[in-house]
Amino acid sequence: SLNPLEASSQPDEDLVATLPTREGWSTPLTLYDNCWLRSHMVGKLMLVRENFKPRPDDIILATHPKCGTTWLKSLAFTISSRSRHTFADHPLLTTNPQHVVPFIGVAGTGGDLDHLDALPSPRLLSTHLPLSLLPPAIATVGCRVVYICREPKDAFVSRWHFDNKIGTGAPISLEDAFDLFCQGCTPFGPFWDHYLQYWKESLARPHEVMFLRYEEIVSDPLKVVRALACFLGVPFTEEEEKSGLAEQIVGFCSFESLRNLNANKAAAGIERAGGKIFLEASSLFRKGKVGDWVNHMSKDMGEKMDRLVEDKFKPSGLEF
Ligand code: A3P
Repeated sequence: SLNPLEASSQPDEDLVATLPTREGWSTPLTLYDNCWLRSHMVGKLMLVRENFKPRPDDIILATHPKCGTTWLKSLAFTISSRSRHTFADHPLLTTNPQHVVPFIGVAGTGGDLDHLDALPSPRLLSTHLPLSLLPPAIATVGCRVVYICREPKDAFVSRWHFDNKIGTGAPISLEDAFDLFCQGCTPFGPFWDHYLQYWKESLARPHEVMFLRYEEIVSDPLKVVRALACFLGVPFTEEEEKSGLAEQIVGFCSFESLRNLNANKAAAGIERAGGKIFLEASSLFRKGKVGDWVNHMSKDMGEKMDRLVEDKFKPSGLEF
């Protein structure tokens, strides 16, 4: 663009080419401002901080990958759109949950920044970006943010399986994946910076930032669904409670229910990163359990990760 005011809306590919890059996962990762991003996405994602325009009534679902994004999107979308859709005629019956809530700045999910500008308020949006790569205006205009994290050993095992599922090249061994993960080199990592940024924000703005864990939804989904409805500004009415709506939403968005929908069993996938990854809707549903790490990681690996986690999180009061 010849207009200097618009210059920043184009990715600076020259800058991207100078950033540190590492191989190992299904696509190379590039370190941008202390965050490892998939190299093919850096150009677009680095524009979000300057160009995404938050609105006071936005709701942003922020997640570390493999920590329950699909689940949170399904729940938040179903809760907030319940006056518009019945369960018999529901967008989730035909659309993968990742696509009912756009990822900010990711065109393939309806999250192209121009497209987001055109959406009516209130917007329900999502991101894997750490807070430090989002516009600081998110805090000043008072957007509500729902964050979800997960016990790191389970998040790691989920990441490893997922990467091998979507990758089209040589698989990554558990040991190599573990080393990268512990060095913080994972998509949107280091995971500890990601968790901690949102954790601190939830302490600073408790009414605007809700901090959730995958494990607490597993252990009491009904409680979380009710809390989420209140947080989203659409608490269940007495009538809705009597009719069992909260329970129905829990059931509708459960792992078994979503996984068995045709939209999520679809064999067709989307090719990305010049053929390096092939995403299928079914890859987002694997096991959906707490503690599956024991079936994959050695005792030594588990202890090593626990020490890392204690080291990184202890001063903040965040425990796993
Ligand atoms: P596992 O690999 O441990 O099974 P994300 O959606 O952030 O990519 O996270 C994916 C993880 O969430 C996977 O974990 C997946 O199985 C699980 N998951 C997806 N949908 C779920 C649901 N409706 N309920 C519970 N877990 C779900």
